[in-house]
Amino acid sequence: MGSGSTNVTLQEHVISRDERADILGKYPGFRGCTIWFTGLSGAGKTTISFALERALNKMGVPCYGLDGDNVRHGLCKNLGFSKMDRSENIRRVAEVAKLFADMGIVTLASFISPFNEDREEARDIHTKEGLNFIEVYVSTPLEVCESRDPKKLYKKARAGEITGFTGIDSAYEPPEKPELVIDTGKETPAASVRRVLEYLRDISIIP
Ligand code: PPS
Ligand code: MG
Repeated sequence: MGSGSTNVTLQEHVISRDERADILGKYPGFRGCTIWFTGLSGAGKTTISFALERALNKMGVPCYGLDGDNVRHGLCKNLGFSKMDRSENIRRVAEVAKLFADMGIVTLASFISPFNEDREEARDIHTKEGLNFIEVYVSTPLEVCESRDPKKLYKKARAGEITGFTGIDSAYEPPEKPELVIDTGKETPAASVRRVLEYLRDISIIP
């Protein structure tokens, strides 16, 4: 990692959030925010966030799903799964999510994000800028995630072919105060999506 940026000065935008919102989406008003899905591999983060993206898109609300497996093919392709790399992954993605949210997009982030400290940093990155950060804990238990094993990663981790796998030999710290909790072992993806939509309605992100 480099030594960091020096001699840089923040430049103020000349376009306001409201002005951006005026030309974005079906409904007037600024709705930019980040919905952050955290949970074990196989918990259902991607499934729910992409289904939510579909639902919001259908309503005419601009939205975009940022997903761990995907950003690790590009923006974060130089990062692995050490504690330090996972922290940098979350910091980087939180900064991107903040920019999307600032643009007026309902940003859906689905990352294991196993450490409280990193998720709190992601939240601070947003709240410092006056942007809503909604943490959704996809709390599906390890046994359920492991029985699904859609990518056969748990099998590999149990066989010692992957080391540092979350829930097996790398920690997952459950969120202390998430805005929402979803156990996909107990409700369907459609029901989970409805619950997130209800929450967004309650806080006036969607009409
Ligand atoms: S993290 O911890 O937030 O930085 O991880 P994330 O960027 O969300 O990437 C998780 C996806 O990477 C795959 N994968 C692993 N997950 C956990 N631990 C290890 N060691 C690992 N190696 C690869 C896996 O497909 C994760 O996707 P999901 O959707 O969570 O299953
Ligand atoms: Mg996923």
